[in-house]
Amino acid sequence: MKQTLKEEVASRRTFAIISHPDAGKTTITEQLLLFGGAIRQAGTVKGKKSGKFAKSDWMEIEKQRGISVTSSVMQFDYSGKRINILDTPGHEDFSEDTYRTLMAVDSAVMVIDSAKGIEPQTKKLFKVCRMRGIPIFTFINKLDRDGREPLDLIDELEEVLEIDAYPMNWPIGMGKGLLGLYDLYNNRVEVHRPEINGLNGESYAPLDEDGEIIGDHPLKQYSLYTQALEDAQLLSEAGNEFSREKIQAGELTPVFFGSALTNFGVQTFLDTYLEFAPGPSAHETKNEEQISPSEEKFSGFVFKIQANMDPAHRDRIAFVRICSGKFERGIDVTLARTSKKMRLSNSTQFMAETRETVEHAVAGDIIGLYDTGNFQIGDTIYENNLKIEFEDLPQFTPELFMKVSAKNVMKQKSFHKGVQQLVQEGAIQLYKTYHTEDYIIGAVGQLQFEVFQHRMLGEYNSEIIMSPMGHKIARWIDVDDLDENMSSSRNILAKDRFGNPLFLFENEFAMRWFSDKYPDVELKTLL
Ligand code: G4P
Repeated sequence: MKQTLKEEVASRRTFAIISHPDAGKTTITEQLLLFGGAIRQAGTVKGKKSGKFAKSDWMEIEKQRGISVTSSVMQFDYSGKRINILDTPGHEDFSEDTYRTLMAVDSAVMVIDSAKGIEPQTKKLFKVCRMRGIPIFTFINKLDRDGREPLDLIDELEEVLEIDAYPMNWPIGMGKGLLGLYDLYNNRVEVHRPEINGLNGESYAPLDEDGEIIGDHPLKQYSLYTQALEDAQLLSEAGNEFSREKIQAGELTPVFFGSALTNFGVQTFLDTYLEFAPGPSAHETKNEEQISPSEEKFSGFVFKIQANMDPAHRDRIAFVRICSGKFERGIDVTLARTSKKMRLSNSTQFMAETRETVEHAVAGDIIGLYDTGNFQIGDTIYENNLKIEFEDLPQFTPELFMKVSAKNVMKQKSFHKGVQQLVQEGAIQLYKTYHTEDYIIGAVGQLQFEVFQHRMLGEYNSEIIMSPMGHKIARWIDVDDLDENMSSSRNILAKDRFGNPLFLFENEFAMRWFSDKYPDVELKTLL
C-alpha cells in the first residue's frame, strides 16, 4: 500500500551517536547496522588495529589514528522504521563537525563507558545537545567488564550533566559476574549468557506483579539478583518519574545498560529507543517561520560537505538534511543563497557498505548530492516558490592559528584549490592578513591542522608549509568601526573569507588593552 507523505515522514528516526573516544560508539553502531541487516558482519573494532576497519570510518587518517574524524551517515530499515544514524567524531578537536551534525538530527544517543563514567568530551557534546534541546538517550556500555556502581553512574550523570535520568533497565552484576538486566520497562529479566544462566537457555525471564522472576529460575539463587531487585525498588520510589514529554523535550534521559561488544542489551535498547524517539521535527527559518516536515514542498539544508570520500572517484558530496516534503531524483530546486536554480539528478544515499542512487527520500532523511562547487555549509535548497532560508549553522571561534603557504611556488593552483575546497567543507577556517593577504588558517583543535596537511598532500598533491602562530583570541568588529591604526604589535588585523574584519589578539591582556583604548568598538565572537 502506498504511504502518504505524512506516514512516510512519521516512520523516520534520525539520530546522532555521541561519546568520548573509546566508549564504544563504533561497536554499538555496528550492532545496530547488523540488526537492520545493513551489514552482514561487524568489522569488529578489534580489527581497527589489525587493518580491518569499522564501516563508518572513511578516511585514511582515521584508520591511522583509530579515531573518527568526520561524521558519516548510515541508513537502514528496522521494525517498520527507516533509521538514519549519523556518526560523529569523538575527538574534541572536531567538535565543530559534531555540532553541525547535531543540527541535522532529531535526537542523540550518548554512549558512556561504565568504568569511566562521564568523560570530558561527553560533557562537551552533551552541552551542545542541550543547546539544541534535542532528546538524549543514554547507553551505559561495557557491562561485561567491571565498572562503577550503577547508582554512582546515574548520580554522576544527573549531577555533572544537570539532567534527570530514568533507568530503563538495571544490571544484575557486572564483569565476569554479569548475570542479566533487570528490565523494568519490559517487565522481564534479560539473561546474560542464557546457555549458563537461563532456564532451558531462555534469554528472557518474565516478572510477576511484585517484580520477581516468575517460578523457579537459576538466577534467583544469586544475591546479585536480590540486590538488583532492591536497587530497582529504591529507584522506583525515590527516582524520577517517567515522562514521555520530558524525554522529548530533552529534560529527562532514559538510561539503558548493556554491552555492545557482546551484543547484550543492544536490541532492547534499539526497540525501546524507537518507541520514544521523536520523528522529524519542524525547522525554523531566518524569518522565524516554522517549516513542518509534512509541508508538501521539498526543502533542506547542507550540514556537511565532504570531498574525496572515495579516493578512487575524487568526488565531492554535500550532505543535505531534508526538512520538508519529498525528494525525487531530478527535482528542480533553488539554492537560497544565490537564487540559482538547479536540477538534482545526481544524488546518493548511504547504506553501511555501499552508496546507492537515491530516487526517493522524505523529510528526516539525509541525502548526499554530488557537488561541483555550488554548495556551502549551511545552504538552504527549496522547491518551487517556497522561498525560505533556514537559520545559519553556527561556527566555533577558532583558537589556534597557523600561517600557511605552498612549499612549491609552481604549484599554486592545486594549493588554492585544496584550501578553497577544504574551507568550504568546514574542515578548517580561512583568514587573510588585511593587506598582504597572507593565508592564515584557524582551528578549534590541533588535529584539524594535521588532517588539513595530510589531505592537502593526499588529495591535492600540495605540500604545504605551516608556521604556528599559537593561541590567539579572535574577535570580529564592524567594518564601520575599523581604523587600521588599531592594529599593533599585540594583535593582527585580518579578514575572514567573507571579507569581515577581525583582530587576532596575542592574549587576554592585549584584548583588554584594546578595549580600554577603544571602548566604543564592540568585539564579537562566533560561538
Ligand atoms: P569509539 O567508537 O567510541 O571510539 O569506541 P569503539 O567502538 O572503537 O570501542 C573502543 C574499544 O572498546 C574497542 O576496543 C572495543 O572493542 C571496546 N568495546 C566496545 N564496546 C565494548 C563492550 O561492550 N565491552 C568491552 N569489554 N569492550 C568494548 P579495542 O579497539 O580492541 O581496544 P582495546 O580495548 O582492546 O585496547
